[in-house]
Amino acid sequence: MRQQWMKPLVLGWFALWFAAAHAAEPVLTIKSAKGEKKFTRGELLGRPSLREVKVKDPAYGGRVMTYSGVPVAELFKDLAISDEATIVFHCLDGFSAPLERRRLLNTNPADAIAYLAVERATDPWPRLKADKPATPGPFYLVWMNPEKSKISKEEWPFMLSGFEVKASVAETFPLIAPDRSVAEDSFVYRGYKLFVKNCFACHTMNGQGTSNLGPDLNIPYSPIEYLKPELLRLMVRNPQALRKWPGSRMNGFPKESLAEAELEDIISYLKHMAQRR
Ligand code: HEC
Repeated sequence: MRQQWMKPLVLGWFALWFAAAHAAEPVLTIKSAKGEKKFTRGELLGRPSLREVKVKDPAYGGRVMTYSGVPVAELFKDLAISDEATIVFHCLDGFSAPLERRRLLNTNPADAIAYLAVERATDPWPRLKADKPATPGPFYLVWMNPEKSKISKEEWPFMLSGFEVKASVAETFPLIAPDRSVAEDSFVYRGYKLFVKNCFACHTMNGQGTSNLGPDLNIPYSPIEYLKPELLRLMVRNPQALRKWPGSRMNGFPKESLAEAELEDIISYLKHMAQRR
């Protein structure tokens, strides 16, 4: 009797489990001039190179987390990417920004190494916020020894959907580059590199870029034109100290992640760009 009654229930649970395990298996896509490569979660988890990656995780406020991940360089192996290329990541929530190829594909343990952490359907990661269901999965870019290459927290994109190989930043977004006459060892040029690394994930420049999270930092006006110099510095260091509201999305850059001289370089770049619209 009892068993008869339980049968549909058991079958129902089985159907649910089956659907969860097999429906819409997450896929990571790499797009390049050569076409598209797709990696399913199951295939990634079955790779011999899969290893345990233990990191101090900025997504969880610096908590030590252990992931199963594959070296990112391996996924790009047969793609013959030029030295100049930029790799743009895309996330399921629409977030997208360029990463430096050299850093992302590095395999030398003297520098930071990127891993693609893969979330198992049967063992999800903790939620990012207690009141929201989202975890950083199904794919999350994490770094071994991030301090060796000064990887910023903007370079740990989560909920990844894929990567796209593009020509250099300068070719893809010509309007964000300083004038050709600017030397590569100048403050302005260094500021440009630092802008791409730290700010370009959320701000466009002259309307170019992949983000629409923060305002454009040059059009219609540059913040150097409407913010007093000391308040502009405060905005970058601690946005909430300038204007406070719960919906603010910009995290500050304390001195540990952006040295005093680096902030000045970024400001030199913004001043230079204010003459180039
Ligand atoms: C995580 C995304 C993010 C990053 C990274 C980021 N910003 Fe922002 N920024 C924002 C958002 C969103 C705003 C709008 C105000 C807010 O929500 O706090 C903003 C506002 C600003 C403003 C004020 C502009 C205005 O008109 O209100 C300045 C200046 C600024 N950011 C500069 C920078 C610089 C310089 C960097 C890099 C060092 C940077 N931001 C990195 C998201 C970001």
